[in-house]
Amino acid sequence: MKCVDDFRLIFGKKEIVPIIVGGMGVDISTAQLALEAARLGGIGHISDAMVPDVCDKRFKTTYVKDKTKFYRLNIPNPDKSLVQFDMGLLAEATKLHVATTMEAKRGEGLIFVNCMEKLTMNAPRETLRVRMRSALDAGIDGITLSAGLHLNSFGLIEDHPRFRDAKLGIIVSSVRALQIFLRKNAKLNRLPDYVVVEGPLAGGHLGFGSDWEQYDLATIIAEIVHYLKAEDLEIPVVAAGGIFTGTDAVSFLENGASAVQVATRFTIAEECGLPYKVKQEYFKASEDDIEVNNISPTGYPMRMLKSSPAIGSGIRPGCESYGYLLDGSGNCSYITSYNREIALHPDGKNISVKDKTCLCTHMSNMNCWTCGLYTYRLKDTTNRLSDGSYQILSAEHIFKDYQFSIDQKISLPDIFV
Ligand SMILES: Cc1cc2nc3c(=O)[nH]c(=O)nc-3n(C[C@H](O)[C@H](O)[C@H](O)COP(=O)(O)O)c2cc1C
Repeated sequence: MKCVDDFRLIFGKKEIVPIIVGGMGVDISTAQLALEAARLGGIGHISDAMVPDVCDKRFKTTYVKDKTKFYRLNIPNPDKSLVQFDMGLLAEATKLHVATTMEAKRGEGLIFVNCMEKLTMNAPRETLRVRMRSALDAGIDGITLSAGLHLNSFGLIEDHPRFRDAKLGIIVSSVRALQIFLRKNAKLNRLPDYVVVEGPLAGGHLGFGSDWEQYDLATIIAEIVHYLKAEDLEIPVVAAGGIFTGTDAVSFLENGASAVQVATRFTIAEECGLPYKVKQEYFKASEDDIEVNNISPTGYPMRMLKSSPAIGSGIRPGCESYGYLLDGSGNCSYITSYNREIALHPDGKNISVKDKTCLCTHMSNMNCWTCGLYTYRLKDTTNRLSDGSYQILSAEHIFKDYQFSIDQKISLPDIFV
């Protein structure tokens, strides 16, 4: 019987343990978590989502305070088109986050940055260009492009000296999305180094519509593997979404995947950025406590705990401080929904917005508890302590459990006293 450790992801001369800890935005996949994955010979992701906010918390910088101060007079204005990111500061924050992480890297693994293209930041092309280039400048091993794939993203870094040496990957949820991306990028003569295929059971935003239940990761992987073979393209395929045990991972590795990307199992790791109390909410969750809803202003369905404080909250849009979801014209669907509620309740009291959420503010405050479908199984991966709480695990324990376990077994941590 095989375990994940019997396989390797080959990247040129490098042999990587084929476990990738997926990007979990707004510092849920912290540098510490990514560093552990790399130390153990796999791949870890940091995320560049809301990177100035992440830097403020990580390095005591004041990017968010300064931006809020600069745009304070615009706060009552429903028109947010004026609120722009300073490209120099965005580059500075990205480099600080990435370079500090890369300097701390030990071991044979790699660290990538997850770059969600749906963070349009009121200037989609310009900000994405700065984010990607700054990460490359700061020495990141690779960039994984996700959520809202722009078809010409590789073109934005084509003239960067590291364009061909850094690993570049994309996340897709269908063979069609991959075909379109490859067609549009053909003229660059630069294939992705890996393709993450994310199925409908994943956490975060889903690359499916409300019919997500009709799709199945193994089927999509089979279609993509078949397509790549037919086109004679050797691009490693990474399976993601609902891979809960080492045995689940082995079944993908035996059926054409070169690695797996996992996240939910790591949400309750010590090194994960969620607060302790939120980790306990993840542990406690039952299947009925999890939903896929449409409250994200990105337009993508998102899976989360139904008890997330972000759901139904009617806070004032925080665009002067954040503004990551403003499209190129300064719009965000939360602003529209919020203004509708304000018009209905002019006293401004007890505002609740049900159809959208202010994702920037709620992600920053760790109040949007996004999670994978199998979050309700997390309680089976640890010990229940005498006070009723669940024991937090180390990232190393979870990583090694994926790497070595067989026969659907999950090894519990040593109970601490
Ligand atoms: C809490 C959480 C946050 C996530 N945030 C992001 C994100 O910011 N960007 C992204 O591309 N994927 C995100 N994902 C998806 C993961 O990177 C990963 O591909 C997926 O969740 C793997 O499935 P699993 O959670 O069932 O293991 C997130 C997943 C979780 C659980």
